[in-house]
Amino acid sequence: MAEKSKILIIGGTGYIGKHIVEASAKSGHPTFVLVRQSTVSDPVKGKLIEGFQNSGVTLIHGDLYDHESLVKAIKQVDVVISTVGHAQLPDQVKIIAAIKEAGNVKRFFPSEFGNDVDRVHAVEPAKTAFATKAQIRRATEAAGIPYTYVSSNFFAGFFLPTLSQPGATAPPRDKVIILGDGNPKAVFNKEEDIGTYTIRAVDDPRTLNKILYLRPAGNIYSFNDIVSLWEKKIGKTLERIYVPEEKLLKDIQESPIPINVVLSISHSVFVKGDHTNFEIEPSFGVEASELYPDVKYTSVDEYLNQFV
Ligand SMILES: NC(=O)c1ccc[n+]([C@@H]2O[C@H](COP(=O)([O-])OP(=O)(O)OC[C@H]3O[C@@H](n4cnc5c(N)ncnc54)[C@H](OP(=O)(O)O)[C@@H]3O)[C@@H](O)[C@H]2O)c1
Repeated sequence: MAEKSKILIIGGTGYIGKHIVEASAKSGHPTFVLVRQSTVSDPVKGKLIEGFQNSGVTLIHGDLYDHESLVKAIKQVDVVISTVGHAQLPDQVKIIAAIKEAGNVKRFFPSEFGNDVDRVHAVEPAKTAFATKAQIRRATEAAGIPYTYVSSNFFAGFFLPTLSQPGATAPPRDKVIILGDGNPKAVFNKEEDIGTYTIRAVDDPRTLNKILYLRPAGNIYSFNDIVSLWEKKIGKTLERIYVPEEKLLKDIQESPIPINVVLSISHSVFVKGDHTNFEIEPSFGVEASELYPDVKYTSVDEYLNQFV
């Protein structure tokens, strides 16, 4: 069997990054994480990093804004996965430049982990955020760097614990606000599973220069379907309050950051149906649960049980 690629994660101490680091270490890939010196001394992140080290992960001190440190880190690995957050998305051109200089990288996974940004119908401010990720795709392709773009759709932990209800800390038990008519289908994946599928793709020739979509059958639900599933679990019917698209668009315009960001992404997914309103064509994409049927992912149905 071929040796497992060495993987560097940039942004490994972030929300989704830590799941990618954990999946990589668990699967036996030599795993490296680029961390800023200041983060190691942070009390919360320091603990996380200690946990990484206990699972055999190698720390590399560096910074996205320190070119030499990036090149040095990248030279030690085969594959680079970026999980940097919103603010650093455009600056991933610095990773692309460092990968070009290092010259040894077999594959780059830019920070995506959401909608397929080449197939969205978003309004601002989501429109610009998606466009920034699309620009990083184009820059990667122009640099001739082999890639995989992971379109993981929604992180389950962001949406399911409250069914996306503003200000809530638990799923609703009386009334539920539904954006649009509640019929377009969205996809919700547990963060650990996103880590697992991403790492599976690293050495897989079928995902090379492709978009890896995470659309497992048990995680595709319309808002209405999720509410019905939840009602069945709690044995109660909720009052459904529908927000027409026109009202939602007005709310997006009038809301401050970051509420407008969340609402505009929700508009793209729940009103426009951008997770599922296109077919995955073999020319540009593959679907993770089809490629890796042995991965036992957590379904939405199973996930919601913890809140009953
Ligand atoms: N599909 C969904 O539902 C969903 C939801 C949220 C996010 N996302 C996407 O997931 C991706 C990751 O977002 P996230 O929320 O997980 O990110 P995050 O929690 O904000 O983490 C950002 C990471 O980048 C690191 N970082 C920041 N500045 C850096 C620098 N100068 N040098 C090196 N590292 C630096 C941070 O390190 P420190 O720990 O040192 O700060 C942290 O590890 C994004 O593309 C985002 O759009 C998707």
